[in-house]
Amino acid sequence: MKILEIVGGSTLSGTIRIGGAKNSCVALIPAAILSDEEVTICNVPEISDTDNLCEILNYLNVENKRASESIVINPKNLENKEISEEFSKKLRASYYFMGALLGKYKKAVMYFPGGCSIGTRPIDQHLKGFEALGATVSVEGNKYIIEAERLKGSHIYLDIASVGATINIMLAAVKAEGKTVIENAAKEPEIVNIATFLNNMGARITGAGTSTIKITGVQRLKGCFHEVIPDRIEAGTYLIIGALCGENLKIDNIIPEHIESLTSKMLEMGANLEIGTDYIIVSKKDKYRNTSIKTAVYPGFPTDLQQPFTVLLTKCPGKSKVTETIWENRFMHIPYLVQMGADITIKNQTATVLGPTKLTGTEVVATDLRAGAAMVAAALSAEGKTMITNVEHILRGYENIVQKLTDVGAKIESREI
Ligand code: EPZ
Repeated sequence: MKILEIVGGSTLSGTIRIGGAKNSCVALIPAAILSDEEVTICNVPEISDTDNLCEILNYLNVENKRASESIVINPKNLENKEISEEFSKKLRASYYFMGALLGKYKKAVMYFPGGCSIGTRPIDQHLKGFEALGATVSVEGNKYIIEAERLKGSHIYLDIASVGATINIMLAAVKAEGKTVIENAAKEPEIVNIATFLNNMGARITGAGTSTIKITGVQRLKGCFHEVIPDRIEAGTYLIIGALCGENLKIDNIIPEHIESLTSKMLEMGANLEIGTDYIIVSKKDKYRNTSIKTAVYPGFPTDLQQPFTVLLTKCPGKSKVTETIWENRFMHIPYLVQMGADITIKNQTATVLGPTKLTGTEVVATDLRAGAAMVAAALSAEGKTMITNVEHILRGYENIVQKLTDVGAKIESREI
């Protein structure tokens, strides 16, 4: 088992370069198989989610070559086979092979996807979209057989602005006959990144980034070169860490507009931020104003930053509140923060934080990816040593986290026990 050991209290300064967005990249890799030619994706983060998708590519006989920060994918010999439960369960984004295989071969067979246990995470909106395009879905236990004789463009209204369903329906619809309209589409920057990739391959998609996406089907998709956008959640996490223990800590290679919901909250709290065109410099303040956040779909406050942000709230005098509206089970980090000395209570979907409190290092668990990020943030700002277990969750989404933090002065080590 891998663990992280962190001795808190160091001041972090220097530059952290943000990598490509996990949640974009994990859709771009399956999307690449829609092409009839070789595609190159650059700024690919080195995280285990990417490695797991490459394993699925290998299994489907799709050539893929990793070079530093890029991946070249050639799907010309792809064999459309059932994707096993073991592969499907390794990560949530395995489900993008449903849309991509259906879109290209009119058939996809795979199992319910894995991912963090942060809620029930149904996929009904994905399936509703596939069915609207003319596919039939048969479910045998955890196995999904999705097939169509022909895919025909359709008007689809999503009950929830789901990121995954919006992307999966785009993947299934790019080669469908005629026009597809997705209403109440999710607007996250990752969706724009995927639509741009598909358009570079010859797809005809407009409206990505708004709640109405229009797709006119094409017969063929060609090779292209594409860049993954910077990871706004990785950037936000390090920004929060900077506000806890930074001194002129530069978070570099980012798109600051993508985390405006976070930076505007931090500025309200009195944080010390210098926002540049593609970077933000952050320094710790002795005192922050208390505040409240409510997670929402983009451009609202991202659920994926709620957990690390809660750590910053422990430093604010008075009462702060965090209301989670996207996932039913995203407060699993709270008992560990309490164990470290935080004063936090949970009622329904709201956590109330009373501060300021001092955090002290202890043994904690990364129960999911962003809970793990919260543990890292807490450990860096705590007194003494913290040992974090279940680190595999963190490595799914934060590239070279130990190196990046060590380079700016953190005392952090990864060990096998
Ligand atoms: C994506 O998950 C991200 N994952 C999540 O990031 C992120 O938290 C989430 O979007 C919201 O921003 C990836 O991109 C791989 P949704 P996704 O479909 O697509 C409900 C992280 O830490 N819903 O937008 O699975 C669902 O239960 C991860 O990096 C349905 O009811 O999220 C949830 O309550 C965790 N039916 C809400 O919609 C459906 O068919 C939003 O889910 C689909 C979703």
